[in-house]
Amino acid sequence: MTETPAASPSASRPPGFGSDNVAGISPAILAALAAANDGPMPSYGADEISARVEAKLSALFEREVSVLLVSTGTAANALSLSVLTPPWGAVLCHADSHIENDECGAPEFFTGGAKLVHVPGAAAKIDPEALADAARRNRGDVHCVQPSCVSITQATELGTLYSMEETATLGAVCRAAGLPLHMDGSRFANAVAALGASPAEMTWKAGVDILSFGATKNGALGVEAIVLFDPARASELAFRRKRGGHLASKMRFLAAQMDAYLADDLWLANARHANAMAARLAAGLAGIAGVEIQGEVEANMLFVRLPQPICEGLLAQGFRFYTDRWGAGVVRLVTSFATSEGDVDRLVEAARALG
Ligand SMILES: Cc1ncc(COP(=O)(O)O)c(C=O)c1O
Repeated sequence: MTETPAASPSASRPPGFGSDNVAGISPAILAALAAANDGPMPSYGADEISARVEAKLSALFEREVSVLLVSTGTAANALSLSVLTPPWGAVLCHADSHIENDECGAPEFFTGGAKLVHVPGAAAKIDPEALADAARRNRGDVHCVQPSCVSITQATELGTLYSMEETATLGAVCRAAGLPLHMDGSRFANAVAALGASPAEMTWKAGVDILSFGATKNGALGVEAIVLFDPARASELAFRRKRGGHLASKMRFLAAQMDAYLADDLWLANARHANAMAARLAAGLAGIAGVEIQGEVEANMLFVRLPQPICEGLLAQGFRFYTDRWGAGVVRLVTSFATSEGDVDRLVEAARALG
């Protein structure tokens, strides 16, 4: 069952479609935080909830994994990359990636100066042949950064998905080139819900070495798990997390969020709901003259070309979404676990009335 926060005076505000992190917290996660507040518990991750989370993630991924919790996706990505590359390395990634555009140089900072090198590909997805080329480039040339690791995003920043075959193909290119593979899974749950594959198949079985397993965008207050499929890297990462200021002393509250997120498949139920709301939104908007849905809607994000009067009218009515980044007239709409059918219908009706 998908949870939606109880109606409140804020329910009269136009719903936000700016991102999935404009949503609040899943009630079960909020309740877990309150439950974890009962009495003292060991600090810095030595608590029983943290141990339970690691066991749950090992069960979910069908192998023993090491887990380090942090409070932001940027920290999860930047710390993950820091154990995959030397400072003179090249992190091969897509130009549209979050690590490239939205992390204020944190990957470069945490890796001690490694360079993000773009690999092209349609729909924000790295092309395997271009990756094989980039992986060979400048090898051994002391004047150049050295290909050291690869980072892909699932679901991508354009709301697209790597199919199982696409991930496995990239994983094979990485293995052939001796490069470890990181996956930014800020919206991993949405990808799992859409593809219907197992988390194991979507990650280590396809060659992923480290996953940033997101929860914040899908119902948590603020927690992301760095999941290491090769536990040998865990101790270095533990020191880097502390040194980077991301070892929470009251770790039990991060763990409590992740514990509740994983319980009863809340993570999947929330993501399925968010994806379904995106599909409903696309179907509703597609029927309005002059509105063009860009590409397929694969997860919980859609890009839509809106006639100017509709776009301006919606913004004037208080609907919130981003407008500038994807070409003239194209806006991004993101749905979440907290988006209701009523929210979607309200936007569609308002757009229709303005059209
Ligand atoms: C693809 C992707 N990765 C990572 C993040 C995590 O960012 P933050 O540091 O804001 O939690 C985001 C958030 O927008 C994202 O969209």
